[in-house]
Amino acid sequence: MKNVVIAGATGAVGNEFIKLLEAREFPVKNLRLLASARSIGKKLEFRGEKIPVEQLTSKSFNGVDLAFFSAGRESSKVYIPHAVESGTVVIDNSSAFRMDPDVPLVVPEINPESVFKHKGIIANPNCSTIQMVVALNPIHKAAEVKRVVVSTYQSTAGAGAKGMNELLNQARAWANGEALEISSFPSQILFNLFPHVDIFMENGYTKEEMKMVNETKKIMNTPNMGISATCVRVPVLRSHSEAVWIETEKKITPKEAKEILKKSPGLTVRDEPENGGYPMPWEVDNTLDTFVGRIREDFSHPKGLTFWVVADNLNKGAALNSIQIAEVLEAG
Ligand SMILES: NC(=O)c1ccc[n+]([C@@H]2O[C@H](COP(=O)([O-])OP(=O)(O)OC[C@H]3O[C@@H](n4cnc5c(N)ncnc54)[C@H](OP(=O)(O)O)[C@@H]3O)[C@@H](O)[C@H]2O)c1
Repeated sequence: MKNVVIAGATGAVGNEFIKLLEAREFPVKNLRLLASARSIGKKLEFRGEKIPVEQLTSKSFNGVDLAFFSAGRESSKVYIPHAVESGTVVIDNSSAFRMDPDVPLVVPEINPESVFKHKGIIANPNCSTIQMVVALNPIHKAAEVKRVVVSTYQSTAGAGAKGMNELLNQARAWANGEALEISSFPSQILFNLFPHVDIFMENGYTKEEMKMVNETKKIMNTPNMGISATCVRVPVLRSHSEAVWIETEKKITPKEAKEILKKSPGLTVRDEPENGGYPMPWEVDNTLDTFVGRIREDFSHPKGLTFWVVADNLNKGAALNSIQIAEVLEAG
């Protein structure tokens, strides 16, 4: 049984941590909930008990075995070193340590053994990367993926609770004939979309796009894989979708790919040529698997395959993947 803290417990990901720790019967001896000073006075329920939210400080970690961090990159950078110094093992959802060579970046379906190389910190990958690699890795094992082109359709939940609220508030304001407020996003999200997730980099890609490139190579240990991403924010509340095109070393047919994906852990194949015979974000909300559909030959390339991937970004893209990492650690 573990003494556990959640840093960022009041956020969109933190809320899922609390629900999933309870639902998965993770062996929690004592759970403490940490957030900013803004949240002092709030209470959140775990196993029928109302737990008061405490302020995250450098002294929050005495006697803590395990810390789940989802309080943003800056908080991770400031507070995780204090946690590690206290002997706490940290599973971090932010991008602060993901590309550090001393920090394992783990998706349990792919590289669970990396968990045991940790020196106090284990990083949880970016949400868009996780769902793509869960589908990509089984095909890579069978046919060696040489190149990946991906376009994402990312929900507002990827920008946290404030992202979802911005879409809902814009919908309400539009219905009432009022002006739409824009604060979390670069443009209006209602009735719109933009190819702009995170900041622009010098190479013309956005930081989110480069996370998908670099994190995929680290998780799958494929430094020479060609990867190009276009990340798009869409007016969906929760769950990210992706259109993925791949080129493989060995020819793989859609039928073979489907059979492989059906047998792969964490994946559900929904692929019927009929209305609704494909995964969609609204029905994937609050589920745990990564869903794949529209598996077909990419007839623009002799060894091309294309498919559609949808997953709940707050679950498999964040809290669930982190708890699965902790479960691997527990199982030893
Ligand atoms: N949303 C996703 O799909 C997703 C997926 C993977 C990873 N992540 C990562 O997870 C983290 C949280 O994301 P989210 O979507 O849950 O965001 P969110 O809904 O905005 O929640 C942010 C949480 O961090 C806390 N926080 C912010 N600044 C803090 C500070 N200085 N000290 C202590 N606590 C602080 C907030 O506390 P208050 O309520 O007190 O402000 C809140 O609990 C981010 O690093 C994000 O990149 C998110």
